[in-house]
Amino acid sequence: MKKGFISKIALLLLMTVVVVSFAGCSKIDTMKRIQEKNVVIMGTNAEFPPFEYRNDKGEVEGFDVAMAQEIAKELGVALQIEDMAFDSLLNALASGKIDFVAAGMTVKPDRLKNADFSIPYYKATQSIIIKKDNDSIKSLEDLKGKKIGVQQGTTGDFMATDDIEDTKVSRFKKAIDAVMDLKNGKVDAVIVDSNPAKIFVSKNDDIKLLATQTIIVSKDNDSIKGKEDLKGQKIGVQQETAGDSMATEVEAAEVSRFEKAADAVKALKDGKVDAVITDFDSAKNLVGGNDDVKLFNAELTDEDYAVAVRKNDKEFLDAINKAIKNMKDSGKYDELVKQYIEE
Ligand code: ARG
Repeated sequence: MKKGFISKIALLLLMTVVVVSFAGCSKIDTMKRIQEKNVVIMGTNAEFPPFEYRNDKGEVEGFDVAMAQEIAKELGVALQIEDMAFDSLLNALASGKIDFVAAGMTVKPDRLKNADFSIPYYKATQSIIIKKDNDSIKSLEDLKGKKIGVQQGTTGDFMATDDIEDTKVSRFKKAIDAVMDLKNGKVDAVIVDSNPAKIFVSKNDDIKLLATQTIIVSKDNDSIKGKEDLKGQKIGVQQETAGDSMATEVEAAEVSRFEKAADAVKALKDGKVDAVITDFDSAKNLVGGNDDVKLFNAELTDEDYAVAVRKNDKEFLDAINKAIKNMKDSGKYDELVKQYIEE
């Protein structure tokens, strides 16, 4: 009896040692587990339309879900979705609770320490949302010292916290709650990725997007890729606009001021200036059918969304990259962009 008791304890101890050493071992054979269980688990935060949100039936859907479906198809297994807080996704991945993250997640050096990323599948930027009747915030500069709402742990959070001086940042579990605080006057602006921002603004008529500056260059210009490259260049602007102030601050730049933004674009085409700075909407209209010029964001981040997997999970990552490549080659990718993002 006593002997049996002792051996039971010994067994228990042994089991504990085995369990603990397995848990401490980070090597999870993802491919093997997926094939055994016949399911691949996607982690996301379904508060980010059009990439992931809950539909009327309460199911998680969106571009990332459709893409994940293609990944599951590639693996020949079913897709399971775990919806959780955005800032707990990478931990859930490392601990093996989920197999990959598809959450409009931007590739960032910090995040690469804890995860590997697939080939990028979407280009994004941040947007700033303010109240429609706000006339005092006219440019990014005006956000200094302001109260800003963000979704916790996102690139919008990092921008508000690290890149703008003296801000007071309110962090929410969901971006839509930051938008609610904006509507209630508790924050002055919300910084969030531009696709969800557009959707939030289209559903609330008391808020608007802040117009940010855009750089237009000729299509074959490979030397100007960002604001930093404008140094010493000839820049055309519409006089007394935010683009004018921005150009005026560029070191050693030669600024040509025009009455209309369209005249600045004409000067660009005639080779009289190297670049034009104007706000995004006017840039889009001006550039419209002109395929000899191109534009990019001058003030806000350029971000790439990618799928995150555990570090060194090579075979699994290859399968994901293959699924994304196939989607692009087959036209499925464009179809999904039309269906979810551009509708
Ligand atoms: N792109 C931003 C980031 O990586 C925000 C993503 C938020 N995604 C979400 N599903 N809530 O930080």
